[in-house]
Amino acid sequence: MAKVGVFFGTDTGNTRRIAKDITTVLGSAIAAKPVNIRNAGVTELLAYDTLILGTPTYGEGQLPGLSTGNATESWEEFLPKLAGQDFSGKKVAIYGLGNQKSYPTEFADAMIYLYEQFIQCGATMIGAWDTEGYNFKGSKAVIDNRFVGLALDQENQKDLTPARLESWLKMLAKAWT
Ligand SMILES: Cc1cc2nc3c(=O)[nH]c(=O)nc-3n(C[C@H](O)[C@H](O)[C@H](O)COP(=O)(O)O)c2cc1C
Repeated sequence: MAKVGVFFGTDTGNTRRIAKDITTVLGSAIAAKPVNIRNAGVTELLAYDTLILGTPTYGEGQLPGLSTGNATESWEEFLPKLAGQDFSGKKVAIYGLGNQKSYPTEFADAMIYLYEQFIQCGATMIGAWDTEGYNFKGSKAVIDNRFVGLALDQENQKDLTPARLESWLKMLAKAWT
């Protein structure tokens, strides 16, 4: 079984495409085939020692899901299932898609909700990312001047994504080996 589980939420496909890029960069021996979180159960996440979790931000700084107008259930509906689950000893990295130009005060906010929930479940969070190179005013996903995970903006900084992804994955590999 692959070492790293990759799960994502998405409405228009950007976060899924990044999940596929992640498995391509890491290779199938390391990363499992990405799974849409609406098709996953908690047991599937618990099967891995390391997780990479992707989420876009919808509504006004919210998790994707039915209440933000997404076509299907997503992280909004999945996160409550994690209450009381034990992820201690597991490493969890988050990446978040957002639009810093249209939502400059809520950029990639949704990452914080995954982050807080997995901390509550005892996970070790890895993959905090520098805010340098982005142009936004505020984000709930920033703690001590760093994003809690990798922020990506396919609307305004698509050209920067491959390099960001590659250096983030290199950083993660150091944290899980
Ligand atoms: C209705 C709507 C609301 C959005 N709200 C936010 C937001 O609050 N913060 C943000 O950073 N991006 C926001 N975005 C941008 C999306 O997160 C971005 O387009 C993302 O790439 C979508 O990912 P997906 O294709 O995986 O669904 C919003 C987009 C839409 C259409």
